[in-house]
Amino acid sequence: MSKRKQLIAGNWKMNGSLAANEALVGELLAGVGQPACDVVVCPPGVYLGQLQRLLTGSPIELGAQNVSTHDNGAFTGDVSADMLKDFGVRYAIVGHSERRQHQAESDVHVAIKAKRALAAGITPIVCVGETLREREEGMTDFIVKRQLAAVIHLNGHCVSEIVVAYEPVWAIGTGKTATPEQAQAVHAVLRAQLKAATEHADRVRILYGGSMNAANAAELLAQPDIDGGLIGGAALKSADFLKIVSAAQ
Ligand code: PGA
Repeated sequence: MSKRKQLIAGNWKMNGSLAANEALVGELLAGVGQPACDVVVCPPGVYLGQLQRLLTGSPIELGAQNVSTHDNGAFTGDVSADMLKDFGVRYAIVGHSERRQHQAESDVHVAIKAKRALAAGITPIVCVGETLREREEGMTDFIVKRQLAAVIHLNGHCVSEIVVAYEPVWAIGTGKTATPEQAQAVHAVLRAQLKAATEHADRVRILYGGSMNAANAAELLAQPDIDGGLIGGAALKSADFLKIVSAAQ
């Protein structure tokens, strides 16, 4: 088991509605009790105000799914880190593979987003991960190290304040989970890379994401360098999400 307080983050992606969110949060709050780990949900941006109202005073924290690379100004459609902060946002996912793929986010964009979040006092959850092809070609370590290196390069010693999420692209939404051994091996590579960058690498939480669910969470979370989970599909079902929360420490 990891030495760090674990973090279970729900990435709702582009799902939900005012009514569905209210029902889901109601179920989560009814069942979450006093969790041993940190718990955060990341709804679509338009619902941050609603979720702030529903979660205030509860043990569940609020996260965003993205943040602008800019501070403010003529950037139509963007939302800045300070704006997220206005809604009580504590975490922001940056560099999710769906944004790297569909919105052409580069390693440099992701590094700047992490920097903007940190400057606003928001913890970036920096996602890294290889595609199936990259894994088959033996490129996994190279890819995740390249992705994390950009964030380290731009953020220097502040990198001790980030959360990293290892999300193999082939495991996201596919039902194909990395084995605990596969995930731990990559987490150890990332930990070693962080150690070379900061003396506080031991406190950086490295989450696993990719088809984590109520049935496989405990085994993944028992690995020494797996400090929590970034949960997609299973975060939309309260019973499943709560089971993952209770599997964490
Ligand atoms: P999944 O998504 O749990 O549905 O695989 C994880 C993620 O994309 O963060």
